[in-house]
Amino acid sequence: MCGIVGYIGTQQAGPLLLEGLARLEHRGYDSAGAAVLAPSGLRVAKRAGRVADLREALPGRFTGRAGIGHTRWATHGPATDANAHPHLDATGRVAVVHNGIIDNAAALRAELTAAGVDLRSDTDTEVLAHLVGRSTAETLEARVAEALARVEGTYGLAVLHADFPDRIVVARLGSPIVVGVGEKEMHVASDIAALVRYTTTVAHLDDGEIATVTAGGFTTYRLDRADLTHSPRAAAALDVDVSSYDVPEGSGHMWREILEQPAAVERTLRGRLDERFGTAHLGGLNLDPRETRAIRRVKVLGCGSAYYVGQMGASLIEELARIPADAEAASEFRYRDPVIEPDTLYVAVSQSGETIDTLLAVQEVRRKGGRVVGLVNVVGSAIAREVDGGIYLHAGPEVAVASTKALTTMYVGFALLALQLGRVRDLSIADGKRIVAALQELPGLVEETLDLAEPLAEVAHELAAAESLFYIGRVRGYPVAREGAQKLKEVTYRHAEAYPTSELKHGPLALVSPAVPTVALVPLDELTDRNVAALHEVAARGGPLVVVTHADVDLGDVPCRRVDVPRSERELDPLLMTIPLQLLAVHAATHLGLDVDKPRNLAKSVTVE
Ligand code: F6R
Repeated sequence: MCGIVGYIGTQQAGPLLLEGLARLEHRGYDSAGAAVLAPSGLRVAKRAGRVADLREALPGRFTGRAGIGHTRWATHGPATDANAHPHLDATGRVAVVHNGIIDNAAALRAELTAAGVDLRSDTDTEVLAHLVGRSTAETLEARVAEALARVEGTYGLAVLHADFPDRIVVARLGSPIVVGVGEKEMHVASDIAALVRYTTTVAHLDDGEIATVTAGGFTTYRLDRADLTHSPRAAAALDVDVSSYDVPEGSGHMWREILEQPAAVERTLRGRLDERFGTAHLGGLNLDPRETRAIRRVKVLGCGSAYYVGQMGASLIEELARIPADAEAASEFRYRDPVIEPDTLYVAVSQSGETIDTLLAVQEVRRKGGRVVGLVNVVGSAIAREVDGGIYLHAGPEVAVASTKALTTMYVGFALLALQLGRVRDLSIADGKRIVAALQELPGLVEETLDLAEPLAEVAHELAAAESLFYIGRVRGYPVAREGAQKLKEVTYRHAEAYPTSELKHGPLALVSPAVPTVALVPLDELTDRNVAALHEVAARGGPLVVVTHADVDLGDVPCRRVDVPRSERELDPLLMTIPLQLLAVHAATHLGLDVDKPRNLAKSVTVE
């Protein structure tokens, strides 16, 4: 999704902006641009395509010690040079970069056109540049505030104005903005990935805040319509491993993150298991035993793969804590005007903590008086700050667009939550201890599962030849199938569809043929025999089969490629079964010559509705 960078200080801004933009490339984008403030005014360059194309297009003298830059993911108008940010006002003295969507852009464009303004792009953002440019308020902050009072929608933005050369003004409503503090210099970004090379002392703006950023520091204000009230905020040190953001040699971010899963799982578990009482300690949840006992339902909210892991998590909670639980796509949730019940625990799950649909779902729950906790990876992110309590995943920075280690740690987070809820309610100490022991063994089993990486290459190459595939699983296995199909789609662009195995004969079997392989999840559990019967149905129609299973499962004479996954307790098996599906996707994409770290049309953090 769109990315913002900004710099003001003693160095040349241009190279720093381009470096920052390159560090946002993994988020997904289709054009890039930058503006610097030279003594004679703004210098601007923008191009459809990659940051490398922008680098080529830079004018000879792209110099200045303040500047802003942007990677655009097209929403209003196609990816063209004209639609790339920054956008300028009519005088060319104001430059704006913007993430988010201005909902009333059409009305504002009409109003500006009627006033004689010549609009030069199809974007919603351009109106912001003109509104700031037409304001006659005394300060740049007041001009930005006046412009923002006219717009409806979401934004993270940065404004550079040739008449106020000592500052960049940034603002946030629904789309992240981080200010990074340096030595006589300041950085601005929409994602810390763009700044960690320069500083790890940062301040995240809250929704409804605007900030003045000068070479010497920053000042934050709360924005109420067009009024600004000073609201002091201190920067804090980020606790991150900066090297996680460097592009790894050879294989790329997604491979590295898949291989990091044992360590990530270990971090999620660290200090949270109680062997003696067979439970978990999740102090951040802010739920006392009495409140826990009063919970009558659990509703998990997340998007995309986080939603699929949410389905896995809901099953775990229902199974271990015996509380009715389900998951719903956060992107749909608030549009059906949901009934929010006081005895339901809502759980928002998000890697980035910035997914706008999940954030708005959280706000819907809170607005109606519900209680919501978060399973979030990024510390200090919008969702983490909005919820009543939560569990940080500690997966470490996840850079690849296709989520892997964050999802694994979400599963572990749900297991911890289910354990804590269960042990306050009816889960026996014996079962609690059984799950604790299994969780302790999990990092080792994840490591063992990763040994499948090499053997799976050949299977993946066969799958890559198919245009269309099915992924099937039952009960605990169905969300795993959904996630497996999602991973394959994202990085190979093959059509992959997940079904509950039990639903095959209710329709999709019609499509099974030698050209349509099926990846089937067949764990050793109470449904194994039924699952094996379904495999025969697929095989009888000539459908090639890849069966992800356990060594003890007897598949009889079903013709298939068999993938044996190490066993844990049945409640944790789904986590181990997701790993071969990640490996199949990444091998297949690499075989097809695709860049798994930059899947087409996708963005790492979806901050627009
Ligand atoms: C899939 C993927 C997306 C995200 C979804 C939610 O690989 O990455 O489907 O899972 O956009 O993102 P977060 O977890 O950041 O809320």
